[in-house]
Amino acid sequence: MRCLLLLLLLLVVALLAADAEPVLLTVTGVPTGVSSGGGGGEYSDELYCDGWRLSVETGNAGPWTAIPPRCLEFVRAYMEGERYASDSAVAAADSLAFAARALSSGGGGARPAWVFDVDETLLTNAPYYAVNGWGSLEFNETSFDEWVDVAKAPALPASLKLYNELQGLGIHIILLTGRSEFQRNATQVNLLFAGYHSWEKLILRQSPDIGKTAVQYKSERRAALEAEGFKILGNSGDQWSDLLGLPMATRSFKLPNPMYFIS
Ligand SMILES: *[C@@H]1O[C@H](CO)[C@@H](O)[C@H](O)[C@H]1NC(C)=O
Repeated sequence: MRCLLLLLLLLVVALLAADAEPVLLTVTGVPTGVSSGGGGGEYSDELYCDGWRLSVETGNAGPWTAIPPRCLEFVRAYMEGERYASDSAVAAADSLAFAARALSSGGGGARPAWVFDVDETLLTNAPYYAVNGWGSLEFNETSFDEWVDVAKAPALPASLKLYNELQGLGIHIILLTGRSEFQRNATQVNLLFAGYHSWEKLILRQSPDIGKTAVQYKSERRAALEAEGFKILGNSGDQWSDLLGLPMATRSFKLPNPMYFIS
């Protein structure tokens, strides 16, 4: 017993000598929870907000209405820097690799299809959010609808590339958006402006869909697509509510969005 303790002590001393700081960090870095007022509060904004982003991307955070005030600069830097572009490029590459594998193994059926969401998936509204607090302010439907009418949201570059590559593989492209039917023209004009073309369908909310959650509305439309004979191989969206609910695509691809949550 005494021998074991001595060994343990020696090990600790050796570790401390080798790299004093990490060992101390490991010991003192355990979150204290209560005193931090919500977890992670004792960390720098950069570390905390990275953890917060992981939490919202995985869905751990559950429904939320605004980004934490201390993460405003983090979200701005994420969206305007290279990380947003890079994260979406990795998601797009995984999507393409899956699509190619699925088709080559005969998993696409007679009418293989891919469902894309529009906002923060094919198009980025970063120019709107840049002048509207990056998700720190309450959603303003009036000003967002005005922005939609301008029809100048740029493409998310990784998604445009994926869109063209999937089309090249012969996959039918279906656009399924939470936007409403009255926004069809502006949406089409914007998609063409951003470089998208030849989609098979652009599905928008009809009057009976108003008030439905995105999960319900989008699941119903996926069911209708399957009833029409489409095999939904993949589904790309920036919200879990674009992807969850039955029927689901063979594989779903979650794109990053640290700015807002839709249930
Ligand atoms: C379609 O939408 C664009 C962009 O909002 C607008 O400039 C154009 O006038 C609209 N066209 C029609 C026919 O409504």
